[in-house]
Amino acid sequence: MKAIVVYLSTSGNTKDMAEAIGKGIESKNVDVKVISFYDVKPEELNEAEAIAVGSSTFYYKMLLPMEKFMNETLISANPQGKIGAAFGSYGWSGEAPILIAEKMREMGMSVVDPVLRILHKPTDKDLQECKRLGIDIAEKLKHKSKKVE
Ligand SMILES: Cc1cc2nc3c(=O)[nH]c(=O)nc-3n(C[C@H](O)[C@H](O)[C@H](O)COP(=O)(O)O)c2cc1C
Repeated sequence: MKAIVVYLSTSGNTKDMAEAIGKGIESKNVDVKVISFYDVKPEELNEAEAIAVGSSTFYYKMLLPMEKFMNETLISANPQGKIGAAFGSYGWSGEAPILIAEKMREMGMSVVDPVLRILHKPTDKDLQECKRLGIDIAEKLKHKSKKVE
């Protein structure tokens, strides 16, 4: 069982969230990789059974390279039926994670609640929430693989 946490982060806030989500997933003994969307390889997305995507919000949406990642890279990685999660840091309106979750649902992914949005730099309490999301992703993954057996 494998999970991947992919993020876009300009000053590290969403990256901090991604790492905490990764720690939560790892704490349930699920194999996980946390990686920038710039560096992720299509085959790593293909192999993952759960894909969490995070982006901060710019000008009321996600930045263009992230939109391209969603519309071209992720969609080509057979995401149908996989577990998804969306998250991101924001400053005032926070649309990007909501748009990511919408796209994931359109691709037929099953998106874990909540779509996690954190204002500015995550506090220790916020990071606990991120870790909790990671645990929920791992548990959903384990539950799903039991059903398949
Ligand atoms: C040029 C610019 C535009 C931004 N536009 C938005 C916006 O439209 N809505 C919002 O909620 N936050 C906006 N922000 C705030 C960022 O989303 C916020 O600083 C976030 O914590 C950055 O996280 P990151 O370090 O993961 O990139 C903007 C920030 C900058 C610098």
